[in-house]
Amino acid sequence: MSDFENLLKKYRDQVNKNLKEVLPSEDSRLTEAMRYSVLNGGKRLRPILVYLSSDLGQCDQRDRDLSACAVELIHCYSLIHDDLPSMDNDDLRRGSPTCHVQFDEATAILAGDALQPLAFELICKFNVQEDIKVLLLSKLAKACGSSGMVGGQVKDIHMDEKVTIEELDLMHFQKTGRLIQTSLEIGGYLSQLEEETIKILENYGEKIGLAFQIQDDIIDIESPALVSGKNQGSDLNQNKITYPSIAGLEGAKSKANQLAEEAKEILVPLSQKADNLRLLADYVVSRNS
Ligand code: IPE
Ligand code: IPE
Ligand code: MG
Ligand code: MG
Ligand code: MG
Repeated sequence: MSDFENLLKKYRDQVNKNLKEVLPSEDSRLTEAMRYSVLNGGKRLRPILVYLSSDLGQCDQRDRDLSACAVELIHCYSLIHDDLPSMDNDDLRRGSPTCHVQFDEATAILAGDALQPLAFELICKFNVQEDIKVLLLSKLAKACGSSGMVGGQVKDIHMDEKVTIEELDLMHFQKTGRLIQTSLEIGGYLSQLEEETIKILENYGEKIGLAFQIQDDIIDIESPALVSGKNQGSDLNQNKITYPSIAGLEGAKSKANQLAEEAKEILVPLSQKADNLRLLADYVVSRNS
């Protein structure tokens, strides 16, 4: 494994260990569903972004561990709801039955509902100074609300073929990009990086966030379920409007690669300090799961 792959593994192992500790330990159908949907693998990209951006400076280790868990909990909640029959109606996630299939629909909705406030509860425990804590709470809340993830998910459900590329970009950015971008910003604020550097992270995050969702749409077409852990062709079966459906598969691939190049260009002022973020941009558009 390359040094970068080892680093990804190290951060993945770290967040997996911490997630076990922050999830409720009492036994109930609800907490079982929460643990089932969080402790089931996953690439842990958003926590990794918290680690990589906070690595540009120095911060309280416990705060960044809790942040890494918080963004992953929000992500896992979004996946449970995304798979529901009223949304994408998917039965496979991370190689296992989706939460509503394994448990039942009401439990899945409520497990997602319970993961979301847990994320905010973790941020309330930070050691960081109060004004930064409030800023981070507000950033995360905006990233998952009506102008962020949930807003993007609503657009995803109601999109039709007359959509413009600009509208498609906005939908992708809101449903997926905002949380990715915010994970980078959280790491930056925790390490008290200069505003200019945080702005660079924000611009970089916008590019890789959009690229990540375009690659996800490509994976839906190209990756077998054994590789992706999700049903191949799910978007096509549901007549989803995706990047490949509007711009074509080759158009989607070239857009994703172009975004990764633009993301790396944005990092130029950070010189070699940002090498891992450069490698991450390449990873986002070369992954097959
Ligand atoms: C899938 O996210 C859903 C999107 C927002 C595109 P990931 O590809 O990060 O899924 P996991 O966490 O690795 O399972
Ligand atoms: C999911 O997009 C976006 C969010 C969960 C917010 P998709 O519906 O394409 O994700 P997958 O392919 O089911 O993981
Ligand atoms: Mg979806
Ligand atoms: Mg889906
Ligand atoms: Mg998808």
